Amino acid sequence: MEEILSVKDLCKTYIVRSNSNNVLCNINLSVREGEFVSVMGPSGSGKSTLLYTVSGMDSPTSGEVVFAGQNLSGLNRRELTQLRLREMGFIFQQMYMMKRLSVLDNILLPGYQANSDRRAVLERAESLMRRLGIIETASHEITEVSGGELQRACLCRALINSPKIIFADEPTGALNSRAAEDVMRELIAANRAGTAVMMVTHSERVAGKSDRVLYLMDGDIRGELVLGRMTDETESNARERKLRTWLEERGW
Ligand SMILES: Nc1ncnc2c1ncn2[C@@H]1O[C@H](COP(=O)(O)OP(=O)(O)O)[C@@H](O)[C@H]1O
Ligand SMILES: [Mg+2]
Repeated sequence: MEEILSVKDLCKTYIVRSNSNNVLCNINLSVREGEFVSVMGPSGSGKSTLLYTVSGMDSPTSGEVVFAGQNLSGLNRRELTQLRLREMGFIFQQMYMMKRLSVLDNILLPGYQANSDRRAVLERAESLMRRLGIIETASHEITEVSGGELQRACLCRALINSPKIIFADEPTGALNSRAAEDVMRELIAANRAGTAVMMVTHSERVAGKSDRVLYLMDGDIRGELVLGRMTDETESNARERKLRTWLEERGW
């Protein structure tokens, strides 16, 4: 399979009050088309920073990010925005929903920006909302829905343009187990339909469903566990145990 994302010698340094903090050092990784990769690691190890820099939300201090054959540093603002709109989906912790729009309109907005067939966009939005059990929140304001509903709305928005990859930062972190299962089920469905996923999670249960797990510590990838494709939910327990053992060997 072709690589959809390729990261070479990526470093990210933040400078705060003249102190420099090397958050990521010489990261090398790749994600293949349709692959499902999890990123795990202690709090503060740089997982969110990694997602931001490989997805073009933020720029690396050095190194390169190649997405679908294009070096992100070679794109201007407008090209980068278009690439993110059409080819990438985002589920981040600070959710960036528009407070003055309804839940449905938030999901429709990136769809309308990328696709002039408004009817098709509306149908897709409603179908996604139905699958995630939030169709009855369509006309609600963003401030009127629960955290779980909001996270599921974010997933609908991330999927509206059928992206090549979804970047998800702890997508189930704040959810009860029922809502977490809904989100994972839809992420896996999107993945099986061909969308690559790069997901940060603290949950062994959740990461156990992915094809491969990267372990990040102090801004450095310290290991990689290839779990392979999960073909059946009944494998969940065994995969989770395998992952836990591997994580414990790394000081989890
Ligand atoms: N915008 C920022 N400015 C300065 N420092 C930051 C910024 N974002 C993150 N950091 C620092 O980078 C380190 C890693 O943060 P983060 O990527 O959020 O870790 P994780 O997601 O693994 O918990 C932390 O020390 C954090 O304080
Ligand atoms: Mg984080």
